[in-house]
Amino acid sequence: MNQFKSIPGTFDVLPRGYTSGSDVIAPVSVWRHVEEAVRRVMVRYGAEEIRTPILEPTELIARGIGQSTDIVSKEMFAFERGSTNYVLRPEVTAPVMRAFLQHNLAQQGGTQRLFYIGPCFRAERPQKGRYRQFHQFGLEIIGSEDARSDAETITCALDVYLELGLREFTVRINSLGDRDSRPKYKQALLDYFLPLSDQLSEVSRNRLDTNPLRILDTKNERERELLKGAPILLDFIDDESRQHYDSVKEHLTEVGVSFVEDPFLVRGLDYYSRTTFEIESAVLGAQSALAGGGRYDMLSSEVGSKKIVPAVGFAAGIERLIMALNAAGKADVDSDCPDAFIVSVDNVAPGWIFSTAKSLRDSGLSICYDLQGRSMKAQMREANRQNARYVVIAGEEDITSGVVQLKDMSDGSQEEVSIELLSKTIGASQS
Ligand code: HAM
Repeated sequence: MNQFKSIPGTFDVLPRGYTSGSDVIAPVSVWRHVEEAVRRVMVRYGAEEIRTPILEPTELIARGIGQSTDIVSKEMFAFERGSTNYVLRPEVTAPVMRAFLQHNLAQQGGTQRLFYIGPCFRAERPQKGRYRQFHQFGLEIIGSEDARSDAETITCALDVYLELGLREFTVRINSLGDRDSRPKYKQALLDYFLPLSDQLSEVSRNRLDTNPLRILDTKNERERELLKGAPILLDFIDDESRQHYDSVKEHLTEVGVSFVEDPFLVRGLDYYSRTTFEIESAVLGAQSALAGGGRYDMLSSEVGSKKIVPAVGFAAGIERLIMALNAAGKADVDSDCPDAFIVSVDNVAPGWIFSTAKSLRDSGLSICYDLQGRSMKAQMREANRQNARYVVIAGEEDITSGVVQLKDMSDGSQEEVSIELLSKTIGASQS
């Protein structure tokens, strides 16, 4: 029978890093390092953690993100069980809004700042930086129209990158205007592109029918030339949205965040109005987006709320962040290693090793020993592989006399230590 393998576009995170095709999969210590930095920064922003299910009703995602988007039309892992349609969440914004409405979090007063870290699923063609199961962290600020909340989501994402030592990124921003701006702009785009349709690729020609705004995302050189003469969204937005946009830019400038205005940044999810933004890293190659987000004041009513709940947020890919950390040489993180590895000479006294490990563990130390009856040389090799700080070498006589050899793996020095003082000696060097 064939051996089972993880599904393409998904991967295991192991205690040690490894390569899989062109991907470098970081050890779990790097993931934890990132998650801890996210939590530290989120706490500084007064954000509270929310955990929503991986499974959501398909209808929530379809209505929230929009039927004509690539995510909903092509990339959902969706299935039916009985009379219910389920989807593995492709993102977390719509689920967070669902939870906000379901639990009436508005009742708790004020604006809610909610953050999350967790897996998402999209049935995309797997490639470097693009996976079928990937991980996002994000912040959603729900209940405020204030332009400071838009600027705050951007500075929060950047602060996570800065916290981790990344310095090189580009922030692109745009405003989509209010609910009425987009249809007007769509029409203007159609008026511009329809007479040029024979110069468009098949994909873009189809988008004329389904979602003309997506033509703005084209990577095709000839189409990018055509875009230079295309109408610009900012010319179609309402005065209030324009003021809001100016205010977001002013706040960013006040705190020294530089950004590039990109009139064609519409993003691939339909729930946005007003601010949209993306944060890119040049080191990432084709999949350059580290994070994306924007304002989504209409999402609440799309998913069933009678009241409009203004909101803004961002989400960032953890895999891409780790790729950027690797490229910047910032992914060297100490992995957990045992305080001591107990080596048994000639495999004597297995019971003593078991109970000594337990009592050292009870004193708060991390202890390992061999479970396969291997030679002393093999046990030492294993201690090395696990990067143990100390090796306790115990032979029959040592155990009887109550004194064992303690080897400090950092400098190879060895001393005799009374068994009673082992935990104190190993523990003392911890701090
Ligand atoms: P998004 O742009 O679809 O936005 O995803 C955000 C980030 O998730 C991307 O910039 C990228 O780093 C990462 N990402 C997306 N798809 C993949 C994939 N297949 N493989 C690896 N990484 C990926 C959203 O999801 C919105 N919910 C953002 C948001 C929050 N808007 C408002 N609040």
